[in-house]
Amino acid sequence: MRIGILTSGGDCPGINATIRGVCKTAINHYGMEVVGIHSGFQGLLTKEVEPITDKSLSGLLNLGGTILGTSREKPFKKNGIISGVNKPALIEENIKELGLDCIVCIGGNGTQKTAAKLSEMGLNIVSIPKTIDNDIWGTDFSFGFDTAVSIATDAIDRLHSTASSHKRVMVIEVMGHKAGWIALYSGMAGGGDVILIPEIPYNIRSIGNTILDRLKRGKPYSIVVVAEGIKTDGRKRAAEYIAQEIEYETGIETRETVLGYIQRGGSPTPFDRNLSTRMGGHATELIANNQFGRMVTLQGDAISSTPLSEVAGKLKLVTEEHDLIVQGRRMGICFG
Ligand code: F6P
Repeated sequence: MRIGILTSGGDCPGINATIRGVCKTAINHYGMEVVGIHSGFQGLLTKEVEPITDKSLSGLLNLGGTILGTSREKPFKKNGIISGVNKPALIEENIKELGLDCIVCIGGNGTQKTAAKLSEMGLNIVSIPKTIDNDIWGTDFSFGFDTAVSIATDAIDRLHSTASSHKRVMVIEVMGHKAGWIALYSGMAGGGDVILIPEIPYNIRSIGNTILDRLKRGKPYSIVVVAEGIKTDGRKRAAEYIAQEIEYETGIETRETVLGYIQRGGSPTPFDRNLSTRMGGHATELIANNQFGRMVTLQGDAISSTPLSEVAGKLKLVTEEHDLIVQGRRMGICFG
């Protein structure tokens, strides 16, 4: 078999480890040929591809970013690099021309949607969930999330000492798109006093009361972790908006930090490396068994897969029943 592999959407730690997992299994175990497709679905439109050999897979396990490059090209939408052509039809033609028996698509929610549509067209597709946001339906965790949480937790740890020295409120904004997974996991691991996520509406008065109550109990500083996707006035970033509101409400000097792309860069954690390796290997196994139209998943500690048609268009959001929220509330953490 000859398979193609692409990475699409925002990059995240663990993509290269996943490419390595897919390709080493394909080449060494199944004797397949592998072709790397550049810049996501864009490369399927322009036929920008290169052969991948065992040699080209060295040094990838701990390397951040993606050696294949990525783009946010959505071939089922009109805009993008090529206009005026039927992009899905062009992709089908190019896949035939390149002699590819299957395409492995590594990406987030947008990629899963495109993968599902290509699969509906009858093309052989296997996908792997990739995002720091951890919001892909059907998998308990996606690689990249653990690394982002670990970077964000380290940042929160560092804010404690400066917050304490100046007796300030420190607001830190983390990524997550429309989901609060990174804020919840890093906020809890970093000892946040207030954690705001898009899934739970907040009341600035109760946030202020939490902070003033801490002051009364001899804790003159507070750490507030906010997800980028929370509701604001629509003009300011989440951290800036919440910091201003808190200062107004409590009269305590408040500062904000936006962590940004640091959460997505650099080397994956050991957990993410192993998840990438396992998911990559399973994707190749699906191909070898002619099981197409599926996304690889992690459920509990088991690597499995689910039909792409069930994943596409859904978001996995935090629920109030999540253990970390239940336990956090019992310990006096304010979730809004
Ligand atoms: O989906 C990953 C993510 O980093 C989100 O957390 C963030 O909202 C978004 O991508 C940023 O996208 P871009 O790379 O297009 O700025």
